[in-house]
Amino acid sequence: MSFTRRKLLKSAGAAALVLTAGGGAFVMTRNPAQATAPWRSTGQGYTDPRLRALSYAILAPNPHNRQPWLIDLRQDGELTLYCDNGRLLPVTDPHNRQIVIGLGCFLELLRMAATEIGFQTEILPFPRGSSPDGLDDRPIATVRFHRSENIQPDALFQQVLKRRSNKEPFDTTQPVTNTLLRTIADAAGGQVIVGATNDASRVELLRDLTWRAMETELRTRDAYMESVDLMRIGKAEIEANPDGIDLGGPFLETLNKLGLLTHESLADMTSSAYQQGLDMFKPLMASAMAHIWITTKGNSRTAQLEAGRAWLRVNLKATERGVALHPLSQALQEYPEVRPHFDEARLLLKAQPGQHLQMLGRLGFGPKANESPRWPLKSRLKGA
Ligand SMILES: Cc1cc2nc3c(=O)[nH]c(=O)nc-3n(C[C@H](O)[C@H](O)[C@H](O)COP(=O)(O)O)c2cc1C
Repeated sequence: MSFTRRKLLKSAGAAALVLTAGGGAFVMTRNPAQATAPWRSTGQGYTDPRLRALSYAILAPNPHNRQPWLIDLRQDGELTLYCDNGRLLPVTDPHNRQIVIGLGCFLELLRMAATEIGFQTEILPFPRGSSPDGLDDRPIATVRFHRSENIQPDALFQQVLKRRSNKEPFDTTQPVTNTLLRTIADAAGGQVIVGATNDASRVELLRDLTWRAMETELRTRDAYMESVDLMRIGKAEIEANPDGIDLGGPFLETLNKLGLLTHESLADMTSSAYQQGLDMFKPLMASAMAHIWITTKGNSRTAQLEAGRAWLRVNLKATERGVALHPLSQALQEYPEVRPHFDEARLLLKAQPGQHLQMLGRLGFGPKANESPRWPLKSRLKGA
């Protein structure tokens, strides 16, 4: 969730302006540098190739920035990826499908980073099986590292540090051309079915659907509270918990200090902070210039991992071409309140019987987005 500067300035009125304008020193210090440090320390100081590759993999996109990865390095030459089951999203992701997609993004990034230093990765998904209902203690994957002399680096790796999930409004005067759309969609690879459109009437239908699905999520108390509980408001909260939904920057922090943007006001669904949060989303959805989606044959855990791997590649390709990508998952989720949107999305995106819609996002040209926070790699190692 991102709050735009304009909206907030308007809502906070003169008090916020005065505080912010008068507080140059305050403004300069509000960057949560520690929380974004993992973006600047990739690959540094590691002799173990697994750690070196992992320092990139932790930058993977993942739902609500929960960073559910946990890594066991006890076996030489391989690693075992687990899911930290304390980092699930039980309301909006009841079967942990999206969490697994995020772990797929992680594995693809790990593969690319290993390739970069001359290692091939042999990924064995769910070596002890899995349940479609929910994740348990069994591993997500084992990954063996093999040194390889003539391995080809992946050109998309150059985009890893620039990649973002861009939650800003896009420029509605700048189209995403057919050629661009095709190039981005082609990056998904052959393990998934990818769809994309820039057709004005179809984009309009998807703008509307994604907004209505978002509105349902925001008006469904349990689903909304799952987000509120993960909001980190201001630098101190972001540094203390570099995950979840970061509401940082001097403007938001000023509103927080004025008591206008607090966990309590956000949790109160009659408050103006809540209403402004709601109002802020519609223009985001309405500025989509194209949409892209990923469908899989069936909905196995392995298919979900493949969807994540494909999404990461699409996100990197879009980055390479200067196109912003914003995932919009609400209509694809599996809790009862969003069911009508789920059915509509299947129809609109022409999902065939037996196919499952895994990811949907909007594309366009947007302002530069900041790096999102990350826990340091060390904290994600099992037993560390
Ligand atoms: C499976 C999945 C679902 C996501 N769904 C949404 C979404 O509905 N809305 C949104 O703003 N971001 C969504 N995201 C993006 C995450 O919020 C984002 O990856 C995370 O905050 C980290 O930020 P980054 O991708 O810029 O590094 C999703 C990401 C994944 C992998």
